[in-house]
This record gives sequence, C-alpha cells and structure tokens, in this order.
Amino acid sequence: MMPELSLNILDLAENSISAQANFVEIILDENIKDDILSLVIRDNGKGMGDEFVKQITNPFITTRKTRKVGLGIPFVKQITDLCEGELVITSEPGQGTELKASMKHSHIDRPPIGDIVSVIHTLIVLNPHIDFLFIYKVDNNIYSIDTREWKAILDVVPLNDMNVQKALKVDLLSGLKKIGRSLI
Ligand SMILES: Nc1ncnc2c1ncn2[C@@H]1O[C@H](COP(=O)(O)OP(=O)(O)O)[C@@H](O)[C@H]1O
Ligand SMILES: [Mg+2]
Repeated sequence: MMPELSLNILDLAENSISAQANFVEIILDENIKDDILSLVIRDNGKGMGDEFVKQITNPFITTRKTRKVGLGIPFVKQITDLCEGELVITSEPGQGTELKASMKHSHIDRPPIGDIVSVIHTLIVLNPHIDFLFIYKVDNNIYSIDTREWKAILDVVPLNDMNVQKALKVDLLSGLKKIGRSLI
C-alpha cells in the first residue's frame, strides 16, 4: 500500500476518538518557503501518562513484538525520523493530547498527502457527535472548516444528513482548490 499522510491523519484522529474526545483539531501546514511540512492533532480526550507517552515515542523500544505495525504512532515516528523532522507528543491525563509531527517538505521519503478531503469528510460524517476543526495552510493561504460553526447554522439538521454531507464535500473540495491543493 502506498503510504499517504492522510491515512496517518485518519489513524491519529481515530486515536483521539478512541480516547473519548469530543473535540479534535487537525492542522496541516505546508510551509514551502521554509521547506517544512507539519501536522498537529489536538484532542480533549482522556490523555496519557508521562511514562506511557515516553514508551510510544521512544525509538529504541521495539513495539513491533507487542503491537501491530500499522499506521499508528510508531509509523509516524518512522516517517518523521526518516524525513529530518520530529514527533512530539504532549499529553495530560484527563485533559487531552497534542501530537506534533514535522518533516522536511521536499524530502524524497516524505509521503504524499493523499486524499485528505475524503479523510476529513469521513471523520466528520461518521462522527457527527464529535466536533472537528480542520485547518490546512499552504504558505500564507489558509482553509479551515469547523463543525461547530456548521452545527450552529444547521440547527437540528445533523452533519450526516445526505445534503449536508454533499455540502461538506463541496466546501472541502473548493476550499482546497482555493489554496492550490485540488489535485492531491
Ligand atoms: N490521542 C490519544 N489519546 C489518548 N491515548 C492515545 C492517543 N493516541 C494514542 N494513544 C494511546 O497510544 C496507543 C498507541 O496508539 P497507536 O500507535 O495509534 O496504535 P493503536 O491505535 O493501534 O493502539 C493507543 O492504543 C492509545 O492507548
Ligand atoms: Mg491508532
């Protein structure tokens, strides 16, 4: 399978959902000027203790024997290491978690972003009770979508209503087009 950052984003957001978050912030920042791609996933879920965080970020601990190799945190760590970046996880039990991954934008091993529109759309419509704030920056151009704003306007109509699903897709697609990312 072709590794794509959007699939890592899906997995990391699913971690937040598993941690009972009801608000998940996803910030994707392509700073082409400084040649850095960064990703932040922040949630208000149950969090993790220090020891646990150390264990999942420590590259010298082989997690492969005890945990499946997938798209999870060890995989993101592999990517950031390979692409001259870093992975920083800060978490507070009972408060939430913030994961920051950075990599050299032009690095030969930097995975493509992939179908981020479908990933964000899927997260939103499959989890209508969870709020998402997605921000995508390409240098100075910014697109953002905030489900709290959509809910305020929609009132009783749910985010997974068929017409709302379509409108969300249009918003994402046209928003990405405006920041010059329609074909990824
Ligand atoms: N946002 C988060 N909030 C709380 N715990 C988390 C979060 N992300 C990851 N974790 C913890 O770290 C573990 C490892 O995550 P991950 O590498 O994605 O593997 P997996 O999801 O397959 O268990 C999770 O099982 C969970 O216990
Ligand atoms: Mg996971």
